[in-house]
Amino acid sequence: MSSDPSASGPDLTQGIGVDDLPRQGMLLGRVGDDPVLLVRRSERFFAVGASCTHYGGPLSEGIAGDDSVRCPWHHACFSLETGAAIRAPALSPLPCWSVEQRDGKVFVREKKLAAPARRLPASGAPGTIVIVGGGAAGFAAAQRLREEGFQGSLVMLSNDDAPPVDRPNLSKDYLAGSAPEDWVPLRPESFYAEQGIELRLNANVARIDVASREVVLDDGSRVAYERLLLATGAEPVRLPLPGMELPHVHALRTLHDCRAIIARAATSRRAVVLGASFIGLEVAASLRARGLEVHVVAPDKRPMERILGSQLGDFVRGLHEEHGVVFHLENTPASIDERRVRLNGGATIDADLVVAGVGVRPRTALAESAGLALDRGVLVDAYLETSVPGVFAAGDIARWPDPHSGESIRVEHWVVAERQGQTAALNMLGRREVFDAVPFFWSQHYDVPINYVGHAPQWDELAIDGDIAARDCAVRYKRNGRVLAVATIYRDGESLAAELQMEQPAAGARAGG
Ligand SMILES: Cc1cc2nc3c(=O)[nH]c(=O)nc-3n(C[C@H](O)[C@H](O)[C@H](O)COP(=O)(O)OP(=O)(O)OC[C@H]3O[C@@H](n4cnc5c(N)ncnc54)[C@H](O)[C@@H]3O)c2cc1C
Ligand code: FES
Repeated sequence: MSSDPSASGPDLTQGIGVDDLPRQGMLLGRVGDDPVLLVRRSERFFAVGASCTHYGGPLSEGIAGDDSVRCPWHHACFSLETGAAIRAPALSPLPCWSVEQRDGKVFVREKKLAAPARRLPASGAPGTIVIVGGGAAGFAAAQRLREEGFQGSLVMLSNDDAPPVDRPNLSKDYLAGSAPEDWVPLRPESFYAEQGIELRLNANVARIDVASREVVLDDGSRVAYERLLLATGAEPVRLPLPGMELPHVHALRTLHDCRAIIARAATSRRAVVLGASFIGLEVAASLRARGLEVHVVAPDKRPMERILGSQLGDFVRGLHEEHGVVFHLENTPASIDERRVRLNGGATIDADLVVAGVGVRPRTALAESAGLALDRGVLVDAYLETSVPGVFAAGDIARWPDPHSGESIRVEHWVVAERQGQTAALNMLGRREVFDAVPFFWSQHYDVPINYVGHAPQWDELAIDGDIAARDCAVRYKRNGRVLAVATIYRDGESLAAELQMEQPAAGARAGG
């Protein structure tokens, strides 16, 4: 997925009349072959790359604030002054150009050099930080620690065999065969050595000794920490069914899982997907792209109804049916053998490949055995610190006090995990940054992206603006008149605007509703 804001606008080196750009405006232009976004904030002008460094989203269709610009696709945020990727999911900066105002015109001049690496004074900073987990939160934390100039020892322990990967891609483009494998790692392997991040793969942490401030690995070795980040994520739920252990039955969490599904798909004619969740249905779409017949078995009346409501659920079902997916809803699997899946209703479906996407469970065993406070996840405070001082938690395992809903929530979203990793990094360095990002996730089905901002586990009113069938809509989930969340299809600007409004204190009621 990438957009090419091809460098076809005005040549910004030739000058633009100052008053040709509104005081809070943006203009897409070019410098040589580079697409460049010229942004005006009152009397100040900024010039940054126009293409988001996450998946190439068109920043000219995003929203600029006083000192930052947000991407319309997945809400990454960049500094206008330095181009720095302030908030995930973008992890790399935008290029920046210097700007000169002269004779009523504004000219974009030379490209700015990258800002020199920051160096944090050793005094006051911890000497050793250990991160358990090499996923979204763990990676984002490690990167942010080095960006902030942390110079101490930084150890990342992961029981995966692959360095941190772009996990959402594993059910989308990579699984569909439309993205090459080099898109999957978040960074090349050389990055970790260059940044002084001691990434230890296949390193399973067995327990945490909070008294001695050490983590203990499977082999009995110990790693001491001054600050610890737990970012162990979640693991797929395994259905207690006969046949789940067969080699053609898969779950999807890791690159290893994904490669195994791709290998099996190469010799399969028909797949059965268990579960009509986001991951299950993204897998269904990707296997259709590989030419397999796909059947989906799920207990729900409609796919995704619990999260998106019945109207979007019906739309998602219709979309997959248009692409040839066969649903067996209000049905559950009873057993699996080498050739078929038997349903509790008595029917059987032939299957050469079975993928179970029936939900995940947060990996809290380490936190539990260490005596950290738990409540359907690891409890953290507004700074993402657990009940044990110096031990932080982020990502799928963390339940945090969400200032927008006033509730303690835990979500399983990529962008939230990365942003929590970034905030936890600052707080491990002694800052006091409240984690106050509005939750956001996206899901992709064929050519239809669904963006969701906010958090609405329950709602008493659902307001649809636009036309779901025409793939042009914003659906607002409200409780007591207050907008808790907004789901959009091809209304990226509206999704971003809702995020900005939800960030305002007590502003849910206004979020465009
Ligand atoms: C296929 C797929 C597609 C997805 N698509 C989307 C999407 O489109 N949008 C979205 O918002 N979210 C999506 N998600 C969810 C998103 O990926 C997760 O919310 C996110 O990865 C959570 O990040 P995390 O850092 O908490 O955990 P993870 O990314 O799962 O990382 C956990 C890490 O901890 C390691 N670990 C666990 N236990 C131990 C231990 N004892 N010792 C050492 N290491 C350990 C693991 O090996 C792993 O490296 C998707 C998830 C999957 C699986
Ligand atoms: S493309 Fe910009 S945030 Fe994903």
